[in-house]
Amino acid sequence: MKRTALLNRFFTLLYTDLWWLYDIAAWIASGGMWYEWVRTAADFVNAPPVLEVGFGRGHLLLHLHQQGIPVVGVDRSPQMVRAAQQALRRQSIDIPLVQADGRALPFPDATFGTLMTTFPAPYVQEARTQHEFARVLRHEGQWICLDTAFGAHRWTMRLWPATLLYTLAGWPTSKAKGVTSSSITPAFVSPHLFDCQVVLVPVRDTRVRVLLCKRRLA
Ligand SMILES: C[S@@+](CC[C@H](N)C(=O)[O-])C[C@H]1O[C@@H](n2cnc3c(N)ncnc32)[C@H](O)[C@@H]1O
Repeated sequence: MKRTALLNRFFTLLYTDLWWLYDIAAWIASGGMWYEWVRTAADFVNAPPVLEVGFGRGHLLLHLHQQGIPVVGVDRSPQMVRAAQQALRRQSIDIPLVQADGRALPFPDATFGTLMTTFPAPYVQEARTQHEFARVLRHEGQWICLDTAFGAHRWTMRLWPATLLYTLAGWPTSKAKGVTSSSITPAFVSPHLFDCQVVLVPVRDTRVRVLLCKRRLA
């Protein structure tokens, strides 16, 4: 099996049978910054209700709820849905969680003011996913996509595990992709569906890239 196929297999396992390892892996890959990065996306919410697609362990759902923002979560993985449900129940918090694929969202048209994805899996790049995202968003609704993080300096020590992973997989690093200096909307976002603004948010000695994609009129 090729290296990339092996890594993809690993990620699939990390979202399913190895769900319990997800937070540990995220912590290692980010030098402990993962959820600090993820929470920055919440600062851009200006229109409730929010739908988070691919919520993983559910930390952003909880953060949004604690800010008083009505939120609904969708994830394809039954293990992630169960783990998030249990974590929320332990805190007596009731957030609607749905096990579904982001490519076929079980909601009527124009239901949400904001749709969020943080560190999304590759399905968000598919045209049918983005059609679904645009469909469930209200007029002027916004898709907030936090898609990458990187060191602010050439050598950011805390990020070496992630850099090593990218190098092993043969994936382009943020620098190679021109992310660090460019504000150009990545090619995967459909310009027919969304008008995007790219924001680089400083978080300690790192930066996160947040795409603020306003739904275009049909
Ligand atoms: C990299 S994790 C990100 C989790 C979380 N947003 C975070 O920032 O830690 C990707 C998540 O997307 C979910 N996922 C993958 N493919 C999906 C799809 N087609 N539809 C919905 N969720 C999906 C996975 O189960 C996993 O929970």
